[in-house]
Amino acid sequence: MKKDTNIKPVLEIKNLNKSFDNNHVLIDFSMDLYKGENLVIMGKSGSGKSVMIKCLVGLMYADSGEIHIMGKDISKLKQTDLNILRTKIGFLFQGSALYDSMTVRENLEFPLRNHKEMYENKDELVIESLESVGLLSAIDLMPDELSGGMKRRVALARTLILKPKIMIYDEPTTGLDPITAKEIIQLMRDIQEKYSTSSLIITHDIDCARVISNRMILLIDGTNYVEGTFKELENSKDKKVKSFFK
Ligand SMILES: Nc1ncnc2c1ncn2[C@@H]1O[C@H](COP(=O)(O)OP(=O)(O)OP(=O)(O)O)[C@@H](O)[C@H]1O
Ligand SMILES: [Mg+2]
Repeated sequence: MKKDTNIKPVLEIKNLNKSFDNNHVLIDFSMDLYKGENLVIMGKSGSGKSVMIKCLVGLMYADSGEIHIMGKDISKLKQTDLNILRTKIGFLFQGSALYDSMTVRENLEFPLRNHKEMYENKDELVIESLESVGLLSAIDLMPDELSGGMKRRVALARTLILKPKIMIYDEPTTGLDPITAKEIIQLMRDIQEKYSTSSLIITHDIDCARVISNRMILLIDGTNYVEGTFKELENSKDKKVKSFFK
C-alpha cells in the first residue's frame, strides 16, 4: 500500500524517544499505519519492538514524542476517552495468555464484561468469533485441552470479539510448527479482509513477513531505519538491511 499524504493514518508515532539510564532504546522513532494495511515491523532481539508497543498501548511512558490513534493525541485524552480508544485496539501476545481456569467460552466472554450492550449478546458474539477462527467445536474445552495453534486461535477470537479497528500482533507465529504458523498467517489475512482491520505485526519470521506485509519497517539503532515493501527491502544493498534476509 503506497503512502498517500491525503489519507490520515489510523496510527501515528512521531519522534518517540525512550531510554533506560544510558540505554537509548528508541531514538526519534516514527511510523504511520494506514487503514486496511498489514504493516510488519522487524528488528533484532532487544531492538525495542516490545518497548515501542508498550508505549503505544500505555503500559510504558515514552520520554518524549507523540502517539496519535485514529487522529487523537493519546497524551491529551482523559482516562475514560483513552479507555474507549483502547477497546478499538486488539492485541495478540506471543504466549496467547488464556485464562487456564476458564473454558474457551468463558475466556471469550471475559473482555465483554465491561461492555453492557455486547455482554447482553454474549452467546451470539462468542459463537461468531469462534466461527471466524474455525474453532466453534472447542467452545466447552479448557485451555490445557488445546494444542498451541488452537490456543492462539482462541486468543485471536477473544481479541476479535470486541471488533477492533487496529490489531497488534506480537510474534504471532513464534513457537508454532511451520504448518500451524501458515494457518495462523492465513487466518490473520482472512480477518483483515472480513473486518477491514489495520494491522501492526511484530515478527522475526521472514516467511510471515513475506506473505502478510503490504509494507515493512526495520527497527535498527532505535529508529525507523528503512521502510518499503518486502521486495524493496529484500533487494536493498544496505548491509544492515541485507542481514535480515539471509
Ligand atoms: N523495564 C525495563 N527496564 C529497563 N530496560 C528495559 C525495560 N524494558 C526493556 N528494556 C530494555 O530495552 C531494550 C529493548 O527491549 P525490548 O523488549 O523492546 O526488545 P525487543 O525488540 O522486543 O526484543 P525481542 O525480539 O527479544 O522481544 C533492551 O535492551 C531491554 O533490556
Ligand atoms: Mg519483544
